[in-house]
Amino acid sequence: MKQNISRVYLNGEFVDPGEATVSAFDRGFIFGDGVYEVIPVYGGRPFRLPQHLSRLKASLGAIMIANPLSDEQWGKIIDELVQDAGKTDQAIYLQITRGVAPRDHAFPADTTPTVFAYAKPMVYPDTVEIEKGVAAITTADIRWRRCDIKAIALLANVVLRQQAVAQGKAEAILVHNGQVTEGAASNIFVVKENVLYTAPKGEQILPGITRDLVVELARQNNIDCREVSVSEKQLHEADEVWLTSSMKEILPIVEIDGMMVGNGKRGPMHQRMFDLYQSYKDAFRAGTVE
Ligand code: PDD
Repeated sequence: MKQNISRVYLNGEFVDPGEATVSAFDRGFIFGDGVYEVIPVYGGRPFRLPQHLSRLKASLGAIMIANPLSDEQWGKIIDELVQDAGKTDQAIYLQITRGVAPRDHAFPADTTPTVFAYAKPMVYPDTVEIEKGVAAITTADIRWRRCDIKAIALLANVVLRQQAVAQGKAEAILVHNGQVTEGAASNIFVVKENVLYTAPKGEQILPGITRDLVVELARQNNIDCREVSVSEKQLHEADEVWLTSSMKEILPIVEIDGMMVGNGKRGPMHQRMFDLYQSYKDAFRAGTVE
């Protein structure tokens, strides 16, 4: 498995990826019993790190795993991984599982969590995707009811994304009780008459860090942005639809279920928000914003 990763962090040590092994009795392997984070790194600086660490704490707390490391310790591990690759843009993956134990759904109190982290070069969406947009499908949100937890158990998300990809589309937009929740691995924004709409935070969506930044940037720039439920009908009647995630940033969706979104082209509001986001990243790289 060639991955272009020089070292990974596993349980207190930095090792060659080939030497990073965990027990087959790890509850992450047996039950998907763990949580994760994906953190972009720009110019050698982890982006929105306090927000990512705070979401990690919320995920760990929700599944009753004590945070194995302090924020300072997390920061040091990330810095060490980032240094390996220098100043190039990267993505950090962090995963904590409940650890090794005899197979039983209920967990013993004394397991030692397994902690794994690595950095890999950032792969941005290509410019064609940004300028021309991507296509998506809608599908029933068949996931469990705690989607606010960034759980490694992603079976439904995997199947749903694959369903989209098998049809040559980039993302599956999930619908629950007639309302848009989010994408299989992204949050969703809808634009109608220059107003942005995105699902409110709660147990039905992951509180995306990119989503929050888009909401923040909209408010700072006097763009009307509402965190309210968006119906499937509103999705289909939107002027623009975007997906957001740490890896894809803000990507226009120009076709849903074979029908054009708006005029089928990337819209002006996307152009504006994309530019705001890039300027924010540039300022972050330069150290002028946190
Ligand atoms: N996924 N919703 C879901 C279900 C996600 O999996 C993701 C990101 C998001 C966006 O969150 P953020 O803006 O914090 O990246 C929303 C990551 C990138 C992944 O699983 O690889």
